[in-house]
Amino acid sequence: MSEFFIGTDIIEVIRINHSIKNYGKRFLNRIFTEPEQRYCNSCSQPSIHFAGRFAAKEAVKKALLTSGHFSSISLKEIEIDREQDGQPFLNYQQNKIEYCKISISHTSNYATAFALYLSK
Ligand SMILES: CC(C)(COP(=O)(O)OP(=O)(O)OC[C@H]1O[C@@H](n2cnc3c(N)ncnc32)[C@H](O)[C@@H]1OP(=O)(O)O)[C@@H](O)C(=O)NCCC(=O)NCCS
Repeated sequence: MSEFFIGTDIIEVIRINHSIKNYGKRFLNRIFTEPEQRYCNSCSQPSIHFAGRFAAKEAVKKALLTSGHFSSISLKEIEIDREQDGQPFLNYQQNKIEYCKISISHTSNYATAFALYLSK
């Protein structure tokens, strides 16, 4: 029987903004893959999109760890990619994962995300 596991996260956009201002590329490279950085930096307010991806990574991490199938996961191994219509999906260790669904939402102040992991 398949089981499902959920994870959620919320973050203040200003926290991400501060990290980018204070630590720049060092912070970005520790957390975000090159394609993630390319997408966020192409947006008019990159911090909002970085915050959304950060929340999504934390939400995915919670869902995967809750399952007990993973012992440790780094945020960089979790890549939030985009379908052509903009909906987010997960690449884990560079492989597209169909059995984990993600939803992201943001305002100028907060970003939040939800993840659902369906295990076989
Ligand atoms: C998707 C949509 C509901 C987003 O709502 P919004 O209130 O503008 O924005 P939110 O802050 O709640 O969410 C933004 C996030 O939604 C996600 N998103 C974008 N397009 C999406 C889609 N088609 N489906 C699901 N999620 C989507 C993204 O993760 C985006 O964040 P990002 O740009 O940092 O990756 C809105 O843009 C929309 O209705 N788009 C039209 C999509 C559509 O009609 N597609 C038809 C199929 S082609």
